[in-house]
Amino acid sequence: MTVLADLTTSTEAFEASSTDVLETSSAEAFRSPSTPAFATPPTQVFDNRESAVRSYCRAFPVLLSSAHGTTLVAEDGTEYVDFFSGAGALNYGHNHAHIKRQVVAHLEGDGLLHALDFHTAAKREFLDRFGREILEPRGLHHRVQFCGSTGTDAVEAALKLARKHTGRTQVIAFSGAYHGVSRGSLAATADLSLRKVAGTHLGEVTHLPFPVGPRGAFPTMDLLEQYLTDDLSGVEVPAAVILEVVQMEGGVYRIPDADLRRLRDICDRYGIVLIADEIQAGCGRTGGFFSFEQAGVVPDLITVSKSIGGLGLPMSILLIREGLDSWAAGDHPGTFRGNQLAFVAACGALDLWQSQAFLDQARDGAELLRAFWENHPLPGVEVRCEGHAIGIDLTHAGGRQAADAVVAWCFERGLIVESTGRDKAVLKLLPALTMELDVLRHGCELIHEALRTALSR
Ligand SMILES: Cc1ncc(COP(=O)(O)O)c(C=O)c1O
Repeated sequence: MTVLADLTTSTEAFEASSTDVLETSSAEAFRSPSTPAFATPPTQVFDNRESAVRSYCRAFPVLLSSAHGTTLVAEDGTEYVDFFSGAGALNYGHNHAHIKRQVVAHLEGDGLLHALDFHTAAKREFLDRFGREILEPRGLHHRVQFCGSTGTDAVEAALKLARKHTGRTQVIAFSGAYHGVSRGSLAATADLSLRKVAGTHLGEVTHLPFPVGPRGAFPTMDLLEQYLTDDLSGVEVPAAVILEVVQMEGGVYRIPDADLRRLRDICDRYGIVLIADEIQAGCGRTGGFFSFEQAGVVPDLITVSKSIGGLGLPMSILLIREGLDSWAAGDHPGTFRGNQLAFVAACGALDLWQSQAFLDQARDGAELLRAFWENHPLPGVEVRCEGHAIGIDLTHAGGRQAADAVVAWCFERGLIVESTGRDKAVLKLLPALTMELDVLRHGCELIHEALRTALSR
């Protein structure tokens, strides 16, 4: 069967079940506050056997066993509405029926599962469709490099390629940035407590203030120009500038479009590789498929992971602009570069991007979120809305203590939301793009009530 025939078949199957696109949980999933949130789960084996490094399970002490749509289900049957979405890896919710069907069919047909970087049918379909349906319509003519299984692998590849291509070593990153915790990416990550854990020197990266942040605007591009034009600045012309167009772990801050365009221009003038890290902000999370689209800027290298794998399956890719693919064959190997199941799930997710019902729902959800938080201001609380990423900043309204209280209060009532940013004082709402509007509204109402309760203390 040709690729085209495959595509037709999958599209027909998709249309026949287009209601699946909208599948989600119901708003009734929220519990009354008087109901105990969770029975003490049998978690001893984790305490006894699992490494002390585990973290999310400490904030959310529940033993999860299944999930559907935007609902997580604990072993004891307790349900949780998911405003966390696997830190952005589940933009299409849990076990999306359409995507799951493709994956199950692949497994049942004894489709290949592991193939390093062999040519395979599943990879061919992904490459072909991702190019035609996502990249080309956005004027992106990048090549695709399949990296190891997780986001940091794409960041490592990007930094290494930029260095190889330019022959330079230095990199510029930004305060507030998060790019992963392997050695190269950690050097670009700004979190000092995470950096400390490296136990070694994390050199060759200079952090500049992000043009927007808790202290307001900063003339970063002026500073960068000054560094690059002053031969006594102490800052070498770098191989790359790496940024999240929307800093997510940093507290949901979007670089102003004008600054991003100016950064593109500076990079062009000095032959610096511009790397956009789309690992959390991409795949529709903050508006368009990519967060940089609205600025009309084309990055040289783009890292994509998390939700690209459709169902939360591991996948991590680097998009490489024409003329920058300076790798020689075998320069950057890795055993798990070809997760075939993730390719299949990724194609299932691409079907959603062809569905008007999905696009309408994502647009309506983002609009609901923006309108809700605009219309429900709270004293001292700043809310930053970027599509389906909402940062509720409590820095000047109770700080970390208030954020922790809101997270715990919501959890007890059946909603999972996390905090992030400086001193973990920013609530970060990451509902799936497929969340039903009434669930989305109820979730926001619950979080708003939690905020009012925390702020009244
Ligand atoms: C922007 C960004 N880059 C890189 C990473 C690292 O991805 P991973 O945790 O899959 O290695 C993350 C993870 O949250 C991220 O948000």
